[in-house]
Amino acid sequence: MKEDSAPCSWIPDLSDASGPIYLALADAIQEGIAAGTLPEGERLPTHRALAAALDLDLTTVTRAYGEARRRGLVDAAAGRGTFVRGPLAQPPMVEPLPAEIDLSMNLPPQPPAAAIPAKLSQTMAAILRRSDAARVLSYHPSAGGTAERAAAARWLAPLLGTVPPSRVLVTAGGQAALMALLTTLAPPGSTVLTEQFTYPGLRAIAVQTGIALEGLPMDGDGLLPEALDAACARLKPAALYTIPTIQNPTAATMPPARRAAVAEIARRHRLAVIEDDAYGLLPSAPAPPLATFAPDRTWYLGTLSKCLLPALRVAYLVAPDDRCAARIQAALRAVCQMVPPLSAAVATRWVQDGTALRLVEDIRAEAARRQDVARRILPAGSFAAHGQGHHIWLRLPACRSATGFATQARRFGLALVPDTAFAVGPAPDASVRISLGAAPDLDSLAAALGRIGSLLDENADALAEIV
Ligand SMILES: Cc1ncc(COP(=O)(O)O)c(C=O)c1O
Repeated sequence: MKEDSAPCSWIPDLSDASGPIYLALADAIQEGIAAGTLPEGERLPTHRALAAALDLDLTTVTRAYGEARRRGLVDAAAGRGTFVRGPLAQPPMVEPLPAEIDLSMNLPPQPPAAAIPAKLSQTMAAILRRSDAARVLSYHPSAGGTAERAAAARWLAPLLGTVPPSRVLVTAGGQAALMALLTTLAPPGSTVLTEQFTYPGLRAIAVQTGIALEGLPMDGDGLLPEALDAACARLKPAALYTIPTIQNPTAATMPPARRAAVAEIARRHRLAVIEDDAYGLLPSAPAPPLATFAPDRTWYLGTLSKCLLPALRVAYLVAPDDRCAARIQAALRAVCQMVPPLSAAVATRWVQDGTALRLVEDIRAEAARRQDVARRILPAGSFAAHGQGHHIWLRLPACRSATGFATQARRFGLALVPDTAFAVGPAPDASVRISLGAAPDLDSLAAALGRIGSLLDENADALAEIV
């Protein structure tokens, strides 16, 4: 049977629709997914079949499917049709099953010699012994006090140069800062551009706030400037969200020329840029942040989660100017009231007394050792990585699916994350992100990667079933 003459498998009731019909049809897709009538992986009727069934113009259905794609509801695969992406309220995340070795969490490794727990308890005890300890136990300004903002500016100076503390906000982790930024910069229904694979936390925010993400194609150096230029002209996006250094998940790092090109395009299109530099302090010789190319339109975010400790819940956000800083401070108050004062006090002290810098150096060195293990064990050329990063992006052999591979790895006692958790739009090939930081030590990491190496073997599917 010719595809276009196939019976229409799904016909929504649009009799009560008001407003543009293409939006009503996109809403119906969203409702169908939420109600379970359109399950994950279901192929939607062809444009032509649905147009005929609903007595609509073909272009109306095409527009509706385009809108559904923009909302992240469906993926279109050339020549194969349009497929339901999955339950909207839950972008695919890591399965919460216990795994023998966790390669799913992008944590900084904790080198035993760094003695982070001991340092943490000493610093907290010292803070609580201070004469003004009661202050730490109370409410604080929502973006940090004067000393904390000054420490943040000092911490970021090697990357950004001198930034007035009035533009620097201390936030309760990177995720809270992103929520405040997205709700401030991108109204519901607007489009935010991202790399074609991006941080799942950003996808979760887009779902909560009704923002459409549009993924931009990438190469080994990050997002393609010409694609950014075209998307700006076509979609009039509210912002670009990008991770230029050790991108999560692809590990791509934009070289300076690519950063300059991105900044020039952003300036030409008057585009707000959210630069998520979560991994920016890991390279010993980092490229200049995008914020140094376009300081007047870039929101620079540097969390301490990846270079020190996620449990601190401290990140530093630099606004383009003082007015923008005040605006985002109001949003931060709405999102989480304030950065946890005890954590902010620890971070401030560690920045001031040099502990933070020494810990980053220890973590960077351990990350490099772990990358060496990956290079030694996995086949050459099978993955993309940065030599001082926490993760690698493993390209799977043709015919292997990323979710199938992750499920299989579970059976071998390993947790890793398939590309579907990061994809904004259709994924071109199958890849998985393997995080090296959560494994307890180098030996268990080597054992885990050895198992992954054997899983890459074509026969692993069959072997896994043998008991
Ligand atoms: C790119 C990126 N941004 C932000 C975050 C979240 O950071 P935080 O722990 O500070 O909320 C992560 C965590 O994985 C990340 O990979």
